[in-house]
Formats: sequence, C-alpha cells, structure tokens
Amino acid sequence: MDGRFLNRVAVSVLLSAVAMGGALVTARSVVPDTAPVTPVFRLPSQQSVAIAPFVQRASVAHGGQLVGHICTQCHALVAGGESAGPVLADVVGRTIASLPGYAYSAALRQHAGQVWDDQRLSDWLMAPARYAVGTRMSFAGLSDPQDRADAISYLHTLHTPSPTPITGPSR
Ligand code: HEC
Repeated sequence: MDGRFLNRVAVSVLLSAVAMGGALVTARSVVPDTAPVTPVFRLPSQQSVAIAPFVQRASVAHGGQLVGHICTQCHALVAGGESAGPVLADVVGRTIASLPGYAYSAALRQHAGQVWDDQRLSDWLMAPARYAVGTRMSFAGLSDPQDRADAISYLHTLHTPSPTPITGPSR
C-alpha cells in the first residue's frame, strides 16, 4: 500500500461524503418532512357520519336487541344498577362523564362539559377508543351507522320517570 493509493481512498471517501451531504440537502428541500396538518386520507369507516337520517328510520326494537346483547355486558340500564360501566338510564342528554360516584377515565373526562346527543353517541359508539383515546370502555364499536342509530333510539327510551313534583296545597 503506497501513499498515493491511500490518498485516492481518502479523496473518494471525502467525495462520497460530500455527494451524500448534497443529496440530503436536495432531498430535504424537495420533500417536506413535516406531517400535513390534516391527514391526507382517512379510512371511510372512521369518518364521522351524520347520524340524524339514520335515526329517522331507526328500529327501536333492533336497537333494544343490540343493547341487550352487547352493552348490558358492562352497563346497567336502570338507575341504581351496578356494573363495570356507568348506568345508561337517562344517558341521552346527560353531560359526558357526569354520574357522581362513577370513576370515569381521564380520557372520557376530557369530554366533560359536552352533552351526549345523538351525534356524539354515534361518534363514540363507532369507535370508543378513537373518540376518547385511553378510555376504559373496551368495546371495538358498532361500525354500521344504522346499528348505531337503532341503539341510540333505544337509549332514548331509557328514561327514569321524573319524580312527581311535590306541590303544596293550592291557596
Ligand atoms: C366491555 C365493557 C363495555 C361494553 C361492551 C360497553 N361499554 Fe359503554 N362503557 C364501559 C366503561 C368501562 C365505560 C366508562 C369509560 C371511561 O370512563 O373511559 C363506558 C362508558 C359509556 C358511556 C359514557 C357514559 C357517561 O356517563 O358519560 C356510554 C354512553 C356508553 N358506555 C354506552 C355504551 C353502549 C351504548 C354500549 C353498547 C353498544 C356499550 N357502552 C358497551 C364499558 C362498556
């Protein structure tokens, strides 16, 4: 190995380093490496679907079957019932994560202050883990919007009768 050979090796190493650096600079300037602000595409099943039209033609009976088969594994449907999940009586129109005495996850409590209306229930039931990342409701979701609308229409029926207002003797 003579000096000239080593020189050539050194020069070629240097040149390739310069070339790689150049390529990197060019690539960086051509291809932005920041993620786009909005995702370029979403899977269709993960898009929020306007639920109102489905609710209009919902089957309460079918919703009752779905809720009976799936939700009652973890939820009581009448106030006072004990289960892993919060009671579903009066859930429509209730403030999210608001039942006193139930230990909600921090994930669901992030939505506290909003009210469970049909659309929020639909988005939640479509994919609970996406709606509230880290939720303790370990349920994959109802992917069919009509199933969600049916279940939501059934939830509307779960009203505890409001106590008769106590009125004093009329004067
Ligand atoms: C595997 C058990 C499980 C199943 C099945 C399940 N849930 Fe839940 N659900 C939970 C738990 C646990 C929570 C509390 C989540 C938290 O705090 O993150 C919850 C929370 C909720 C809430 C929020 C209530 C509130 O007070 O804010 C609603 C609404 C709800 N579930 C509806 C349903 C419906 C409707 C179904 C059936 C389609 C269902 N869940 C199926 C366990 C379950």
